[in-house]
Amino acid sequence: MCGIVGYTGPREAYPVILKGLKRLEYRGYDSSGVAILNDHLSVYKKKGRVSELEESVVGINMHGHTGIGHTRWATHGEPSDRNAHPHYSASGNIAMIHNGIIENYTLIKKELQNKGYEFKSDTDTEVLLNFIEEIKKENNNTLEEALRIALKRVVGAYCILLIEKDNPGTILAARKGSPLVIGIGKGEHFLASDASPIIEYTKEVVYVNDYEIAIVKPDELILKNLGNEKQTPFIQKLDMELAAIEKGGYEHFMLKEIHEQPQTIFDCLRGRLIGSSATITMSGVDNNMDTFMNASRIVMVACGTSWHAGLLAEYMFEELCRIPVEVEYASEFRYRNPVINKGDVIIAISQSGETADTLVALENAKEKGAFIFGVVNAVGSSIARLSHAGAYSHAGPEIGVASTKAFTGQLAVLAMMALKIGYKKGTIDETRYKTLVRELEAIPEKVKEILADTSNIQRIAEKYKDAKDFLYLGRGYNFPVALEGALKLKEISYIHAEGYPAAEMKHGPIALVDENLPVVFVATKDRYYDKIVSNVQEIKARRGKVIAVATEGDTIIPGMADDVMYVPDADEVLAPLLSVIPMQLLSYYVGVSKGIDVDKPRNLAKSVTVE
Ligand code: G6P
Repeated sequence: MCGIVGYTGPREAYPVILKGLKRLEYRGYDSSGVAILNDHLSVYKKKGRVSELEESVVGINMHGHTGIGHTRWATHGEPSDRNAHPHYSASGNIAMIHNGIIENYTLIKKELQNKGYEFKSDTDTEVLLNFIEEIKKENNNTLEEALRIALKRVVGAYCILLIEKDNPGTILAARKGSPLVIGIGKGEHFLASDASPIIEYTKEVVYVNDYEIAIVKPDELILKNLGNEKQTPFIQKLDMELAAIEKGGYEHFMLKEIHEQPQTIFDCLRGRLIGSSATITMSGVDNNMDTFMNASRIVMVACGTSWHAGLLAEYMFEELCRIPVEVEYASEFRYRNPVINKGDVIIAISQSGETADTLVALENAKEKGAFIFGVVNAVGSSIARLSHAGAYSHAGPEIGVASTKAFTGQLAVLAMMALKIGYKKGTIDETRYKTLVRELEAIPEKVKEILADTSNIQRIAEKYKDAKDFLYLGRGYNFPVALEGALKLKEISYIHAEGYPAAEMKHGPIALVDENLPVVFVATKDRYYDKIVSNVQEIKARRGKVIAVATEGDTIIPGMADDVMYVPDADEVLAPLLSVIPMQLLSYYVGVSKGIDVDKPRNLAKSVTVE
């Protein structure tokens, strides 16, 4: 949430920052702004998308070689020009941007108000900035010293960048909880919330750690901890190409990412799973096999779509490994004082690797002695670094706010893990293990088949786009898929949708069924097939409209449903990797036909770095 960009070096800062902000817009799009340092310190900001900021500065001389920029997901104060970042300090000498939340800002604000400070915005950011400036003034400190002192009193999460009128060429940065990457160029430095604004210029990056301050000049990068001790920057090489973050001819990132799935699932399996020899190699699992085999239980911790992957993993691990599994919303888990014992394994699932609730939940569990395994997409992210071990989902950068390819990547990783551990434990026999390995290897081709012709799904989307509510039902492995389908629809079409276990619908949701309610059944061939057939009949008997996801060749469900989306046959353990694809497409086409910006749906942000 909130994207930040900074540049210092020989280039013009504004175009670099503007391009970077556009790449980070998935993190929030309530307002945006830039501060440029030349002889003056100038701030330009605007409510709305980055393109609106761009238009508002046409004709203005934006010259300057140092600058910072921000795209906002509003926390404190409504989206407005006034609350947009950067903020000026009271003297007008410092400008600052911030991603995160300062929890004790009201207390600090009061202190400052007692000293005569007035605030132009409703933000916690302006409070922190003036707090820093006040400390600087009081003790005649440098900005760096004042920043260090201030941060020791701050409670909350932040990634902040500051520039100061009398300090040309220098950006000060600090982080705790919210991400910060610094790109190292020749005589120049780039700062950003993730690597996407940087890869075009350099592949050498430093991921700043919590409680570190960076003093960034064109040809110098100094990292210090809050105790003023220098830290050695750990320079890493980015393994990402520019093409991965561009639309590549698709109308939306979401559509591109849906269509990338045959490749991204393949990439996730590549080098790990070999069907012919029925081997699965995952160093993070291999090196900790005893921990997994002796685990008294596994707790999946995640949010949003990643939580749905966790729910599916519960079915996989319990069935294939016979290890008890709990699936937890990170936000509840972190505050609930959960029982965590030494033998517990926590599997953290996160696309961004930066979700604040997941991150803190893991920190707490780690402190209590749990083993943390990260299933993360963003390489080098905070959760990846905090985990004892992990496996990347290798889906590449996901930019559409609604998660698609990251989800199937997570499922592929979790399926490989469950198969590997179950086989080693002996809780799955060789024949079934080999069958599932081969089936998993075949998934990318089957996804390709689904994506080859989407016209039927487009037609269905058009037919039901004006419905006010949707119900999504499924049993067993298809129940989490139903939840994910409902979430996707809500996110990008703003239609109310609920996912339910198909049998549970009799305990409430069935009261909603009439001729206006589309009910999406995830009804692929599995052990519950006969039961789901009965559930479809129950809905039809009440004149509900049934849209079914059915297995190719099935004749019973298609005979009852109003509309059908077909997927190839697969073992029920792996079928969600297929049945979720029509869900993604259905939501996408409903959203598009309603004229919604599906890549940036209202109120949402992709990387939720505030709790
Ligand atoms: C947000 C995103 C979702 C994502 C969730 C968890 O809500 O919009 O797409 O599933 O955060 O994020 P994570 O990065 O931890 O998977």
